[in-house]
Amino acid sequence: MLIRIIDPAQAREAEATDEAVYWNRRAVLGGMAMAGLLPAACAEAKAPNLAPLAARKTRSLNEKLTPYSSVTNYNNFYEFGTSKEDPARNAGTLRPEPWSVRIDGMVAKPQVIDIDRLRKLFPLEERVYRLRCVEGWSMVIPWVGFPLAALIKLADPLGKAKYVAFETLNDPKQMPGLRSSVLQWPYVEGLRLDEALHPLAMITVGLYGRVLPNQNGAPLRLVVPWKYGFKSIKSITRIRLTDRMPPTSWNRSAPDEYGFYANVNPAVDHPRWSQATERRIGEYTRRKTLPFNGYEAEVAGLYRGMNFQKNF
Ligand code: MTE
Repeated sequence: MLIRIIDPAQAREAEATDEAVYWNRRAVLGGMAMAGLLPAACAEAKAPNLAPLAARKTRSLNEKLTPYSSVTNYNNFYEFGTSKEDPARNAGTLRPEPWSVRIDGMVAKPQVIDIDRLRKLFPLEERVYRLRCVEGWSMVIPWVGFPLAALIKLADPLGKAKYVAFETLNDPKQMPGLRSSVLQWPYVEGLRLDEALHPLAMITVGLYGRVLPNQNGAPLRLVVPWKYGFKSIKSITRIRLTDRMPPTSWNRSAPDEYGFYANVNPAVDHPRWSQATERRIGEYTRRKTLPFNGYEAEVAGLYRGMNFQKNF
């Protein structure tokens, strides 16, 4: 039997599936594998062996979901290589359990929280968000997680805290890409405290109803849907409250190309890529990029009076 692997870059709109079709197909493929009609590894790719997570659906989008296979095989995670296929291929060396995240800096209650406790601490929500990469592609993903604000409030920020700094795991044994000097390690990101407390900003621990695959930032990552994808830092080990604007990996690497704010803005082009349009993975024709990635009504208030040409 010939199983066609769709290259996301070539896929046409008609080939994109929604969630229901995806899971339906997954069940069919699983059944075929059991009946000996498919090699096990092939069915495996469609039916991840990852723990299911119970979550309340709190936010949907009237848009087609990006197929699970694209969400998990077309990634940016430089700790595992710089090509889109590298993370799925190489992230098997990441050990997402045991894992803990430290919250410290300008907080009254600094603490280290274990991932198991974290998954139980806050009610898990499923929220469908657009994710727009500065390279010009986008996806629609059903994330599972909780508001970043809930986690920050647990540590009780001090009045002088103005920013939140995030840090990814920095272990060359688990992350072969750290041997390359393509970025300064660990990967770091940051938000203004009021951005971090915005209800749309989310810590995610899963997608498509299951725990996060390693290549998507297991066991926990940030998702800030109104900003370019590079703000959504993966495999977080530390969250630090500070009064200074923290360094961010891409700004450090190319300050003229990547600003601290990185709000999705079709009016300000990246020096190498226009930001006016985007290609939704699984679609053929490009679509117009929306200011703040379509979340303008909810987040524009955070940036009133700000010059977006200067603060890109
Ligand atoms: N986080 C870490 N630690 N390392 C990375 O290389 N890449 C970023 C972001 N988070 C990255 C990261 C970029 S450029 C994007 S577009 C998104 O992750 C991609 O997320 P996805 O692979 O789940 O689609």
